[in-house]
Amino acid sequence: MDFDNLPRHIAIIMDGNGRWAKKRGLPRTAGHAEGAETFRSIATYCKEIGIEYLTVYAFSTENWKRPAEEVSSIMNLLEKYLCESIERMERDNVKMKFFGDITPLSPKLRQLIERTCEISTHYDGCQVNICLNYGGRDEILRAAKLCAESYAAGNADAFSEDVFSSNLWSAGIPDPEIIIRPGGEKRLSNFLLWQSAYSELYFTDTLWPDFSKEDINCAIAWFQGRERRFGGI
Ligand code: IPE
Ligand code: IPE
Ligand code: MG
Repeated sequence: MDFDNLPRHIAIIMDGNGRWAKKRGLPRTAGHAEGAETFRSIATYCKEIGIEYLTVYAFSTENWKRPAEEVSSIMNLLEKYLCESIERMERDNVKMKFFGDITPLSPKLRQLIERTCEISTHYDGCQVNICLNYGGRDEILRAAKLCAESYAAGNADAFSEDVFSSNLWSAGIPDPEIIIRPGGEKRLSNFLLWQSAYSELYFTDTLWPDFSKEDINCAIAWFQGRERRFGGI
């Protein structure tokens, strides 16, 4: 892997927590807890090697279909994680943002998210975007509505790619050069549908709680071997 030629933006679908736990005879929640630890170590590593943006899929608009106990245990883990990160942010120098509609989340979680974002404005290290109640289709529909409003207000250019992108949660952030999906599935599951137009897609059978620095190095090395043509020759 060439540390001088890193992608600016890496996105990860953190999948496989449930199967990791099942393999060990543990409740699925244990897999989510272990997955949160993996996230912490991978985010720290990305910051150390100089990745500018890391976007992770934590909870999709479809994940509400899961049993209520699993959803609430994921939400509790998120609260715990955010409380701890608020204390560590100064030391870690990471900036956090959230993609997704946070209004259906608990008031406590919303408050923690708002506090995290507020503190984040003071930092300029690696920017970590956490996709929470995020869905690519939902994001595109919201952007389309904003463009339509702008068009109705007289902006004839409201439907350009630039204006459209500026109405996405990822406004101002370059598209991810690579999307990594651990857990063995080869699909995007409604993740970054607009932004992934030219992303390199890397799939691995490793389950997210087992995902290590070596695994991300392998993914980056694979990415560095790709020839990106963007439709040209
Ligand atoms: C990803 O792991 C975490 C979330 C979707 C919240 P899963 O819970 O989907 O784990 P598997 O795919 O069932 O193993
Ligand atoms: C995608 O994983 C969502 C997250 C990792 C947060 P899922 O486990 O929900 O995806 P499917 O159901 O296998 O497509
Ligand atoms: Mg899954």
